[in-house]
Amino acid sequence: MAANSVPDISLNDGNSIPQLGFGVFQIDPKETARAVGTALEIGYRHIDTAQMYGNEAEVGEAVRASGLDRGDVFVTSKLNNGFHRPDDARKAFERSLREMKFDYLDLFLIHWPLPTLYDGDFVSTWKVLEEFQRDGRVRSIGVSNFQVAHLERLAAEADVVPAVNQIEAHPYFGNEEVRSYDRAHQIGTEAWSPIAQGKVLDDPTVVDVAEQVGRTPAQVVLRWHVQRGDIVFPKSTTPKRIEENFGIFDFTLDDATMDRLGSLDQGEAGRQGPNPDTFDYVPD
Ligand SMILES: NC(=O)c1ccc[n+]([C@@H]2O[C@H](COP(=O)([O-])OP(=O)(O)OC[C@H]3O[C@@H](n4cnc5c(N)ncnc54)[C@H](OP(=O)(O)O)[C@@H]3O)[C@@H](O)[C@H]2O)c1
Repeated sequence: MAANSVPDISLNDGNSIPQLGFGVFQIDPKETARAVGTALEIGYRHIDTAQMYGNEAEVGEAVRASGLDRGDVFVTSKLNNGFHRPDDARKAFERSLREMKFDYLDLFLIHWPLPTLYDGDFVSTWKVLEEFQRDGRVRSIGVSNFQVAHLERLAAEADVVPAVNQIEAHPYFGNEEVRSYDRAHQIGTEAWSPIAQGKVLDDPTVVDVAEQVGRTPAQVVLRWHVQRGDIVFPKSTTPKRIEENFGIFDFTLDDATMDRLGSLDQGEAGRQGPNPDTFDYVPD
């Protein structure tokens, strides 16, 4: 492996995913094609979008404009919260492919479990994702924001084990209980908001580690994630930061430093986003 190349992580279905990608949450559709184009030029080969982000079309446009083969870029999208009923999920997935002008996705996720909606039934939604995988329109299927109880229910009632579970994780919120379930069941963990939307970057411990290793705070936090084995896709619309965040495979953190960053975990108090057990937002 070249010093700065992105490792592939093997998934439980035989596919693989680049461990570092580029996230496009909260990127205005008008800015998305430029930001994704910059990321692809720098060398990112994995883009994380969602129906909820409203910028799938621009992600597809940027992949085509890059001149790369479709097969060289790993693209993820996610089912929006209003479409958990099987027929709605089928239509929404077809709309994603149409928007992106792709004939397949690399990974498609249930964005949120919404256990308080749809009579708590995310299993029939999951079975529709199994259909998409069987008919070849998606290579891998997974979930996002699933807690241990939700994963246990899928294990009991469905055929396919999710390839990944995309969850909030960063030094202030290690999310260890879910990560350890994922690990024990060969589910890849994807860490969303890996730098807590910037909030961990001026933490004195993070700043101190960055000074010691001669890297930026964002680089040491992203490096901490990859050494934990998680998949990350930091978001930025700033070209210099997009490049900075890519430069994390030519240094390592020693065990003591990994532990120091891990000790910033505040448990539930460190969670920045919504709690998946109660989150019930359905966009209009
Ligand atoms: N499944 C889910 O429910 C879920 C939820 C949230 C996020 N996600 C996914 O995870 C991705 C990443 O999470 P996120 O967008 O919430 O947050 P994030 O990647 O942790 O942080 C993004 C923020 O940090 C800033 N930033 C990025 N790189 C930086 C650097 N090197 N130095 C200083 N500041 C930097 C960005 O600013 P600028 O853009 O101004 O440079 C932006 O404000 C999302 O884009 C999305 O794909 C998924």
